[in-house]
Amino acid sequence: MSTPPIFDERFTGELAELFAWRRDVRHFHTRAVETAMMDDLLASACRAPSVGLSQPWRLARVRQEERREAVRAIYRRCNADAQSLQPAERAGLYARLKLSGLEEAPEQIAVFIDPDPATGGGLGRATMPETLAYSAVLAIHTLWLGASARGLGLGWVSILDPVAMAGALDVPAHWRFVAYLCIGYPREPSDVPELERAGWERRAPLADVLLER
Ligand SMILES: Cc1cc2nc3c(=O)[nH]c(=O)nc-3n(C[C@H](O)[C@H](O)[C@H](O)COP(=O)(O)O)c2cc1C
Repeated sequence: MSTPPIFDERFTGELAELFAWRRDVRHFHTRAVETAMMDDLLASACRAPSVGLSQPWRLARVRQEERREAVRAIYRRCNADAQSLQPAERAGLYARLKLSGLEEAPEQIAVFIDPDPATGGGLGRATMPETLAYSAVLAIHTLWLGASARGLGLGWVSILDPVAMAGALDVPAHWRFVAYLCIGYPREPSDVPELERAGWERRAPLADVLLER
């Protein structure tokens, strides 16, 4: 057992700044991310909480150009479908949004879960098997905050076909796709979400999402 650190007011103030400046990033410099930094980030993602300590996340670091092109092809197809489903008044704005950094992000990580991991003994997921996916999302968020703290950006791409993704990346057939993450140095850090800057949606005030009972 080690001695727990003391997180002082200065730290919590900086943590609040980190929360405010963490962004979903779609515009990257192509400059490589240092290997030790990536190793560190991936290790810290795996310290996330998980149901029953099941650690169901499975990470595929996608480096091969032909695999990256296969992912881009899936994205182009899914994005065209998504665009065609937009109501007329939003179609133009949707078309102008940049919804992935797949072309330029130097690091790309596909996140899957093993839906029946040998770890965790089934604890906590009998009535809610979806807690396995929630656990993977927490690993992603841990990675996201860790990346932001190091001046890196992360963009979550979900405009993808999960079955096609598993095929394109040749992962075990029973894994379930959760997310595709683009990571790299951001072009324009901001404390306002890009979709808010583009006029797509606004951040809701706490009162809109909080009930008292
Ligand atoms: C589950 C999930 C899926 C997302 N999928 C996409 C996506 O496919 N493309 C995209 O540009 N952003 C995607 N995002 C990012 C959101 O658009 C972004 O988090 C939101 O606009 C708030 O901006 P912020 O993260 O910079 O605060 C996704 C975020 C989450 C949590």
